[in-house]
Amino acid sequence: MNQLSDRLNSLSPSETLAMSQKSAELKAQGIDVINLSVGEPDFNTPEHIKEAAKKAIDDNFSRYSPVPGYPGLRNAIVEKLKKENGLEYTATQISCANGAKQSVCNAVLALVNAGDEVIIPAPYWVSYPEMVKLAEGTPVIVSAGIEQDFKITPAQLEAAITPKTKAMILCSPSNPTGSVYSKEELAGLCEVLNKHPQVIVIADEIYEHINYIGKHQSIAQFPGMQERTVIVNGVSKAYAMTGWRIGFIAGPQWLVSACNKLQGQYTSGPCSVSQKAAEAAYTGTQAPVEEMRVAFERRRNLIVQLAKEVPGFEVNMPEGAFYLFPKCDYYFGKSAGDRKIENAGDLAMYLLEVGHVACVGGAAFGAPDCIRMSYATSDENIVEAIRRIKEALAKLN
Ligand SMILES: Cc1ncc(COP(=O)(O)O)c(C=O)c1O
Repeated sequence: MNQLSDRLNSLSPSETLAMSQKSAELKAQGIDVINLSVGEPDFNTPEHIKEAAKKAIDDNFSRYSPVPGYPGLRNAIVEKLKKENGLEYTATQISCANGAKQSVCNAVLALVNAGDEVIIPAPYWVSYPEMVKLAEGTPVIVSAGIEQDFKITPAQLEAAITPKTKAMILCSPSNPTGSVYSKEELAGLCEVLNKHPQVIVIADEIYEHINYIGKHQSIAQFPGMQERTVIVNGVSKAYAMTGWRIGFIAGPQWLVSACNKLQGQYTSGPCSVSQKAAEAAYTGTQAPVEEMRVAFERRRNLIVQLAKEVPGFEVNMPEGAFYLFPKCDYYFGKSAGDRKIENAGDLAMYLLEVGHVACVGGAAFGAPDCIRMSYATSDENIVEAIRRIKEALAKLN
């Protein structure tokens, strides 16, 4: 008997986590798998941040923190937003949560009523539509293919807005495509949004610092947008701190206060020690962030060059994050022995089981013609992974 709520029954499990698990299982059997399925930096957290956490333990930061986070961390975020993004917020307009994931989910739950529509450009980060469904809202998927560099146009946005549109979730730099909206492209979207003031923008900027085309542009910087934008960001990707679980929102007071109310009944403030570590990340030297960004850029150049040589792969030039999202439908309908590739999920499973390289099928990201590869791994792994992929694909006909 299924006694679960409709809410949970309608939720899909995370396909990225499932692929990582399958890859770990093969590794446990002694198979040398190269894992390109994970969405996290392969670097360790910088030393000065770890030291701050050790000190926080010794200084007994071991009790409940204020629900939105310690004032010290929120003030550091206010400073970061001013210095890096040219945006003025007060500390009360910041709310910290257990990672950017909870931050997005808090904003969605605080905004969305049953039946409200939320526009989600595809390819999208796997969790957005599921979060909207949790809130009993309706995800409205607007698709952008590789021919438009996986970015939606103002005309597509305009066509998707209805009287029921409550919000839009914009992710730039993007997971899974690495695409970055330029200033001009954001201005085009804002022109449409200006005509529809009821639409709130949830701007997921977690990959802000992993950008290869220059300064990050936030949609909140455009005229009239800050009052209707919730910026989501955090320390996970830029500072190699995925396990510490600190994200934040910066937004209009009414919405941030609502997220605090939600969080106060649900999870309370995030881990006290991690907050001290995150404060050190924002206030300390930013040199490690740049070192990691430079390494990611080198790897981006390497994987793009190699992936372009894979027959049947169509590849764009990602401008941020650490993912490549090749279009690979050339292989759909092909077989090797009794294995037939019907879709990107089959292809990802084939590459894992035959090539021993873990990628993620694009269906989970709303792009069933593509697969996602994370290049947050060593240059050697990238070279060997593409060699294996080529070899495995050559067996398909
Ligand atoms: C686009 C995007 N947003 C949010 C998150 C979640 O970040 P965090 O680990 O801080 O919860 C991720 C992590 O993969 C992501 O790719």
